[in-house]
Amino acid sequence: MLLDFFKISSTPLIGIDISSSSVKVLQLSQVNGKYCVDAYGADLLPPQSVVEKNIKATDKVGAVLRQIIKKIGISRKFAAMAVAGSSVITRTIQINKEFSDAEIIEQIEIEADRYIPYPLEEVYYDFEIIGPSVKNADLMDVLLAAARIETVDMRIAVAEEAGLKATIIDVETLAMEKSFSLVAEHLPTKGVGSVVAVIDIGATATTLYVFKDLRIIYSRDQAFGGKHLTDEIQRRYGLSVEEAAAAQKYGGLPEDYITEVLEPFKETIIQQVSRAIQVFFSSSEETEIHFIVLAGGIAALPGLEALVQGKMAIKTLIGNPFADMQVSEKVNKNLLMEEAPALMMTCGLALRTFDNE
Ligand SMILES: Nc1ncnc2c1ncn2[C@@H]1O[C@H](COP(=O)(O)OP(=O)(O)OP(=O)(O)O)[C@@H](O)[C@H]1O
Ligand SMILES: [Mg+2]
Repeated sequence: MLLDFFKISSTPLIGIDISSSSVKVLQLSQVNGKYCVDAYGADLLPPQSVVEKNIKATDKVGAVLRQIIKKIGISRKFAAMAVAGSSVITRTIQINKEFSDAEIIEQIEIEADRYIPYPLEEVYYDFEIIGPSVKNADLMDVLLAAARIETVDMRIAVAEEAGLKATIIDVETLAMEKSFSLVAEHLPTKGVGSVVAVIDIGATATTLYVFKDLRIIYSRDQAFGGKHLTDEIQRRYGLSVEEAAAAQKYGGLPEDYITEVLEPFKETIIQQVSRAIQVFFSSSEETEIHFIVLAGGIAALPGLEALVQGKMAIKTLIGNPFADMQVSEKVNKNLLMEEAPALMMTCGLALRTFDNE
């Protein structure tokens, strides 16, 4: 079945990021050529409702989304959501540049059947013509993308539970790329000619995205995140998950927390980051990373930016896609700025509302 992975949005929409720990919703508009954050809301998910990027309980996730929409007063009915890059198969293929539209579609179906490791009835796929092939002037390069119907339909179902229609199904890596272009404005080179590592440390996963000249060239997940810290707080101080998560964010733990728990966790972060970067170098022609951008909820840990910069000897900053945006009075600006590094994906999705511009 064909799906509009590469569709252009023609209606105002909201961005919804469903992660392992929470649902995040963001609405952007444009005022006098400047982006404005109209609405932002997020809430935690019940444990196990999303496991390794797979939605296990659409009803529970849908209920959380519905609550957020109600609370922040969203009236837009359309949404952009994303599937993980790892659940999308992409492949650049070459086809005859003289083909008619009908012939292209026919050829794509043949190629899709050849390259997608699932029966075509089980996948959504789409293609985008990139341009003349560098390999052969008679051919053009076409990007083919496919995802399992189930993976996509789970997201559509969650949106429906909240009375929304998911009109754009994006790929997480592409949503990050959109957001990165805003964050890169704050790099000394604005990202031009630079290789930049964005390290997104979330609740259960750490993803290294590498950008070169503002384009994504690499991404890879590791099973590591803030949940390790929350679990350790919970275990050591006999707290509930909620109490531990709150203490991790807002403090109030015994004195030994810093030396016994937080510092060792930060050390582990450094090990994870340096390992992720090594793995990248071993599979890439690149030999240098010019900047590191920290993203994800863990980026908010006090002192992490300086620690990473010192240990990795690479200029490091915290990713904030909203730094140059206006913020509606209805939005808690302090909270938005605090959570900004965890909202890069959400922001990339919300930006899809400006596809036409
Ligand atoms: N101010 C803070 N201080 C410390 N930890 C924080 C803070 N804010 C968020 N966290 C932690 O960050 C994690 C959530 O980050 P984020 O929202 O990026 O994760 P996620 O996208 O839900 O997870 P994943 O990407 O792994 O699916 C949680 O472990 C949370 O406890
Ligand atoms: Mg995340």
